[in-house]
Amino acid sequence: MPTDTGPGHLVELNTTQPIWECFYWVAPLVLIGTREADGGHDLAPKHMVTPLGWQNYFGFVCEPRHRTYQNARREGAFTVSYPRPSQLVETSLAASPRDSDGNKPALDALPVFAALGVDAPLLRGGYLFLECALERVIDGFGNNSLVVGRITAARIDPSVQRHADGDPQALLKNAPLLVYLHPERFASIDQSFSFPFPAGMRK
Ligand SMILES: Cc1cc2nc3c(=O)[nH]c(=O)nc-3n(C[C@H](O)[C@H](O)[C@H](O)COP(=O)(O)O)c2cc1C
Repeated sequence: MPTDTGPGHLVELNTTQPIWECFYWVAPLVLIGTREADGGHDLAPKHMVTPLGWQNYFGFVCEPRHRTYQNARREGAFTVSYPRPSQLVETSLAASPRDSDGNKPALDALPVFAALGVDAPLLRGGYLFLECALERVIDGFGNNSLVVGRITAARIDPSVQRHADGDPQALLKNAPLLVYLHPERFASIDQSFSFPFPAGMRK
């Protein structure tokens, strides 16, 4: 077990290069769904994703060269599907390269269903589904952009829905959560512990 021997032993990382491969970090893993210009659909995995505050905004980081970015901008909408650990392979396949015609044949392995209020696909078998109207796009974080949506519809599988009097351990055992550990690893969370909030803390 590492011990804290003071800052003298710390290794300085080179910040003229990206630092994100030098250690493992925890991220969600979702599939962003969009409508293609030719009427087809697209799903692509993203781990740089987050709620933006507590008022139902959702953001993901994407490169402008990705179809996901172009589709979301053009159509003004996208969806978010949260896959289960059992859907890891399908989730990864959605990052397969496109062929010379610009198609992503690997998407045939991913069953989809329609969103309620936006024109974009959702992944069948996932556990949480968000539909988003494009709120804004902020370009210029190096090669990357932040794509922000306002959540206009959300559906959840009852097997993962929290209830005030429910047992969190049983919920996670029954429906584990998929986590991406960048770089190149994943984890399945099927147990958790009560967080020790300080007395009097306000959100
Ligand atoms: C596990 C995993 C996580 C990924 N996370 C992101 C991400 O957060 N942002 C991003 O721009 N690309 C991410 N990618 C890469 C894109 O999803 C991938 O390049 C995809 O093929 C782009 O497809 P599109 O052109 O259909 O949008 C990830 C890929 C994998 C396998």
